[in-house]
Amino acid sequence: MRTDRARRLIVGNWKMNLDQAGARHLAAAIATAAKAETYFSDMVICPPYTLLHAAKEALAGSTIRLGAQDVFWEEKGAFTGKISPGMLVDAGVDYCIVGHSECRGRFGAGAVEPRLARYFADDDETVRLKFSALLKHGIKPILCVGETEQERKEGRADQVVHDQVSRVIVALAEDATGAAVAYEPVWAIGTGQVCDPEEAARMAARIREILDRCRQTGIRVLYGGSVTPENAEALFAHEEIQGALVGGASLRVDSFTTIVRYAG
Ligand code: PGA
Repeated sequence: MRTDRARRLIVGNWKMNLDQAGARHLAAAIATAAKAETYFSDMVICPPYTLLHAAKEALAGSTIRLGAQDVFWEEKGAFTGKISPGMLVDAGVDYCIVGHSECRGRFGAGAVEPRLARYFADDDETVRLKFSALLKHGIKPILCVGETEQERKEGRADQVVHDQVSRVIVALAEDATGAAVAYEPVWAIGTGQVCDPEEAARMAARIREILDRCRQTGIRVLYGGSVTPENAEALFAHEEIQGALVGGASLRVDSFTTIVRYAG
């Protein structure tokens, strides 16, 4: 059996999908599968805000944890449309994604028209504020980082990812054990074009170096971007990849649990 340190973390990011009945059904099916089989990885599902309650009820009595997809860093007040870390705690949330490339307005190839992208305006500073606010409330942040196709072509992938991680982690006062950093190359998200596993492992190792240098050894490094049952085994052959952030393939119980099985 794996030790706690080596357990992988598999996160299902449902994005803007499903309704009450669909969320209840999918969460219950994943919980049933997790009870029937012993998985050696931690599992989290991240439904949209409106479906957190339905998913929470369906997960009752299981070991699967609930996550949100975003947060605002202030406690409360006149912030129409925003959700605070305290509200997430109240909703029974344990994890929260921050800095997803889609929230930064950096979409995978052809996923959204440029006129829409400008409405998603997260940057390293807002991501840092969100990350810290979550930690203060005992919610484990899942920080997403990754380069665009253009940045990779220009040979800037390592620098971009280095900057995105450091700007959030370096000045962090708290111990962020339990949090995660997901390396998600933007060009691999929702495109079916998974990153070569060797390269994903190399990038994960680079991120690990930054985390270790900042004494954040309890943060796991995940890979995300077109993870499917077909490529999961090859990705998890690399110890550097300590889990996965799964989008499309997390919307079906069979594909999600197959990925969890490959995580070992
Ligand atoms: P994908 O999404 O698995 O559909 O590529 C991953 C993500 O955006 O977190």
